[in-house]
Amino acid sequence: MTVVLQTRHLRKQFGDFVAVEHVDLSISEGELFGFLGPNGAGKTTTIGMILGLLHPSAGRVEILGEEITPEHTDALRHVGALVSTPGFVPYLSGRENLHLLARLYPDVDRGRVEEVLKLVALQEAAARKVRGYSTGMKQRLGLAAAILHRPRLLVLDEPTNGLDPIGMKEIREMLRTLADEGVTIFLSSHLLHEVEQICDRVAILDRGRILAEGEVSHLLQGKRDLEALFMAVVAQS
Ligand SMILES: Nc1ncnc2c1ncn2[C@@H]1O[C@H](COP(=O)(O)OP(=O)(O)OP(=O)(O)O)[C@@H](O)[C@H]1O
Ligand SMILES: [Mg+2]
Repeated sequence: MTVVLQTRHLRKQFGDFVAVEHVDLSISEGELFGFLGPNGAGKTTTIGMILGLLHPSAGRVEILGEEITPEHTDALRHVGALVSTPGFVPYLSGRENLHLLARLYPDVDRGRVEEVLKLVALQEAAARKVRGYSTGMKQRLGLAAAILHRPRLLVLDEPTNGLDPIGMKEIREMLRTLADEGVTIFLSSHLLHEVEQICDRVAILDRGRILAEGEVSHLLQGKRDLEALFMAVVAQS
């Protein structure tokens, strides 16, 4: 199985404060991996390092076997990301925004734009200006933008933040479909019920360290649900 994302002894320190320590992850092609942890656990910091936005204090990130360094970020071309409410040009439509982004990638044509609009169920709203989009619509457009260049790894930091239950379910189904098509997905979330339903494997992070990691079905043995496991794991630390 191809390992798409690997972190080795990843560490990030801000001054004297250690935000992430000893994070070792290995995620294979087509896996949908859930990255859990309380507020301040270090999830976004880890994601920042995976995406080359933050430089690790120690350790390394490899994407498809290639290390990401400030000088060498080639492997990031295989990555799509949705890490905060994405910025779009407000006076352009959703479709026009995607066309603008498509110009960055030689092999993304107008057909691909229509394909992703369909995938995120934004076809009807695609002609409207982004200024008038709801939170959920912006989030879907963000997902469309993240997958436009057919990334092999999709990194999402709380992608269903601010979505209603219908939007959440739709995004969940989209992610499952993408993973089934072979896209590797690394997803941080606080929505344990959601994660339990779609993820193959999870890691629980607290105070920068991984406290539990494994297949969801395996971790849940003897536990009521992922929430019960999360509470038990975090209470122990
Ligand atoms: N640039 C920074 N300078 C100093 N401390 C930082 C910086 N970025 C993050 N931290 C600290 O590192 C810790 C981890 O933050 P991080 O944002 O990674 O947590 P998180 O798991 O994403 O939390 P949340 O669930 O709230 O999004 C926090 O204590 C945070 O205050
Ligand atoms: Mg965060």
